[in-house]
Amino acid sequence: GWKMENVLDEEIKCIKDTVGPEDHVICALSGGVDSTVAATLVHKAIGDRLHCVFVDNGLLRYKERERVMDTFQKDLHLPVTCVDAIEQFLSKLKGVVDPEVKRKIIGKEFICIFDAFAHDLEQKLGKKPAYLVQGTLYPDVIESCPPPGSGRTHSHTIKSHHNVGGLPKDMKLKLIEPLKLLFKDEVRQLGRILNVPEQFLKRHPFPGPGLAVRVLGDVTEGNALDILRQVDEIFIQSIKDAGLYDLIWQAFAVFLPVRSVGVQGDQRTHSHVVALRAVTSQDGMTADWYYFEHKFLDDVARKICNNVRGVNRVVQDITSKPPSTIEWE
Ligand code: XMP
Repeated sequence: GWKMENVLDEEIKCIKDTVGPEDHVICALSGGVDSTVAATLVHKAIGDRLHCVFVDNGLLRYKERERVMDTFQKDLHLPVTCVDAIEQFLSKLKGVVDPEVKRKIIGKEFICIFDAFAHDLEQKLGKKPAYLVQGTLYPDVIESCPPPGSGRTHSHTIKSHHNVGGLPKDMKLKLIEPLKLLFKDEVRQLGRILNVPEQFLKRHPFPGPGLAVRVLGDVTEGNALDILRQVDEIFIQSIKDAGLYDLIWQAFAVFLPVRSVGVQGDQRTHSHVVALRAVTSQDGMTADWYYFEHKFLDDVARKICNNVRGVNRVVQDITSKPPSTIEWE
């Protein structure tokens, strides 16, 4: 049987056997399910010889840093350092409009910060950390040789991982990938056993480059990021209140780099336009746009315009994937 309790026990034993009693381990937490479950598992095996880092790149959602840090610390008791790198990321992104260039810059900055974290830790410990935890899943791994007992196959070849970005090659860390034989729903089951809050396990996927690919154009222009956070929060909260969150694969707002004319009070306004997108999907490869009731959309659009300064128009994205992608950039 492929029972999750057994998988958990075996993984913990395996980590204890692998990591020497004096060895230290590092892990980058993205705020997503996979890295969180992987870190929690490793923490259970080796305790505070695990050292996690969470990077605030300035591209996170409304109160996301506070919310995920709360989960890491209060719910999961993970040893985690939060690095405020907002200025570092945003200064590098200033003036950048090409989506792939944005992704490259963000990936590169992330490596810089992770590198600095590892070096600081080395100073503090008086020795190099020996291992790196990654939340690689089975679908990320290319099949080759049979693992003990599971009836599944795995290999050590890893697809280029766009989630946490590539990590420094010169660091010579050995990898611990406790989820590499599991599918997403199995990671959630494992998370449940490890007391990761249900709400956290059910969160919609969120791209590594964060809101940078949801502000079209220059993300540092005006208060685009701030407006987007407020709009997104209203949209997501409305979806949760309506009991629709778990029916949807991903829902989010997009900031458009255009202004339109509106009338608010007796004032003519020339303000921002935001788009709402919600899709259903099995795996993110294809997706259908989600059909909301008129009343729901009407309430959300009103709430957004009444509460978010600088927005006077809300549109909905009604394309599926293909021909569109899920994200706008
Ligand atoms: P698209 O937009 O290609 O997205 O239809 C498919 C899924 O992948 C996510 N996505 C990303 N995830 N880094 C990530 O970690 C990225 O650069 C990235 N781009 C898209 C997207 O949110 C959706 O779930």
